[in-house]
Amino acid sequence: MKILVTGGAGFIGSNFVFHMLKEHPTYRVVCLDALTYAGNLSTLDPVMENKSFEFVKGDILDRELVNKLFKEENFDFVVNFAAESHVDRSIEDPDIFLRTNIIGTQVLMDACRKYGVKRFHQVSTDEVYGDLPLNRPDLFFTEETPIHTSSPYSASKASADLLVQAYYRTFDLPITISRCSNNYGPYHFPEKLIPLMISRALNDESLPLYGKGENIRDWLYVGDHCTAIDLILHKGKVGEVYNIGGHNEKSNIEVVKTILKELNKPESLVTFVKDRAGHDMRYAIDPSKTRRELGWEPTTLFNEGIKLTIKWYLENRSWWENIISGDYKDYYEKMYSNRAGEQ
Ligand code: NAD
Ligand code: TYD
Repeated sequence: MKILVTGGAGFIGSNFVFHMLKEHPTYRVVCLDALTYAGNLSTLDPVMENKSFEFVKGDILDRELVNKLFKEENFDFVVNFAAESHVDRSIEDPDIFLRTNIIGTQVLMDACRKYGVKRFHQVSTDEVYGDLPLNRPDLFFTEETPIHTSSPYSASKASADLLVQAYYRTFDLPITISRCSNNYGPYHFPEKLIPLMISRALNDESLPLYGKGENIRDWLYVGDHCTAIDLILHKGKVGEVYNIGGHNEKSNIEVVKTILKELNKPESLVTFVKDRAGHDMRYAIDPSKTRRELGWEPTTLFNEGIKLTIKWYLENRSWWENIISGDYKDYYEKMYSNRAGEQ
């Protein structure tokens, strides 16, 4: 089997590359990644010498390059992780989100049609369902929940999902889509809540919580997301959407307090800052279809996963210190300087 993993130098894609090479040692895994600010080649160091793995630097928007790669490799599976993934950046500048997340997906699917694949899998997000109110803990997102997006990021992911479903209906492209809740774990870029808070707490810096910190996310350890996608590729039904989540709902303030406790740092580091525009209140996945049809179960609960994650950030300081020493400083200044002190 030959598998193309786009965005494999990013957070979830790299974890998926490691997972596939370990679980399917006879597969050839090719990673196509443009190495944007979020991609990091050093992340793939552990597999660069593996004969079953190849890294190709390139943009999914580059039709010529994508077609050439498909022609040469004759892929069986394509798993599309490549995306602009940060909500706050999409609020600052939606343009690249629409290009990469929508048109990039189209370029990949056109190549799949032209050269033929057994499966095109689109890695989507629970954010396409919009949000749920805090006072209705009985409500969850199912695969039938209508698409209802809030941010340019989620709108771009939802647009891609619709296009993927259109390619199935119109062209019979063998597709699947997974919609996963918030991931956390090793190699998570320190602009997202959990790695941002761990890295700043370790440096005794203030921890900027948006609004009142009461928004809820449904956290899934990244390894559990990878096993779910593996199952969907091998056992999932063509044309179907699968929700992925493990019922680990936590408010942002709870998450940050847990991190501070684990690191033995004071809660006084928390600073409440101006809220995110259009901030989704609560995400909560109902994963029963994926459990029932594919036998998938998450194995890492939040209390264990957060400890593993903190341990990884403590043992791999050079990975994230390298990131936060460069352009990231300007990013932090740009995104957070006008939030300070407000609520
Ligand atoms: P990430 O930002 O860490 O990584 C994205 C990767 O894609 C980077 O390596 C980047 O270089 C690459 N990339 C970006 N634009 C590209 C382009 N035009 N061509 C080729 N490569 C490009 O993202 P992530 O958190 O690992 O998310 C991966 C996927 O999973 C995304 O599609 C995202 O929407 C989805 N997802 C993420 C989460 C989460 O909690 N992080 C949850 C559900 C779904
Ligand atoms: P994030 O990791 O950006 O993921 P998403 O917005 O895709 O769910 O944010 C998770 C939650 O944490 C979200 O409610 C916004 C909040 N948040 C903060 O309070 N402060 C921050 O500095 C960041 C980055 C996020």
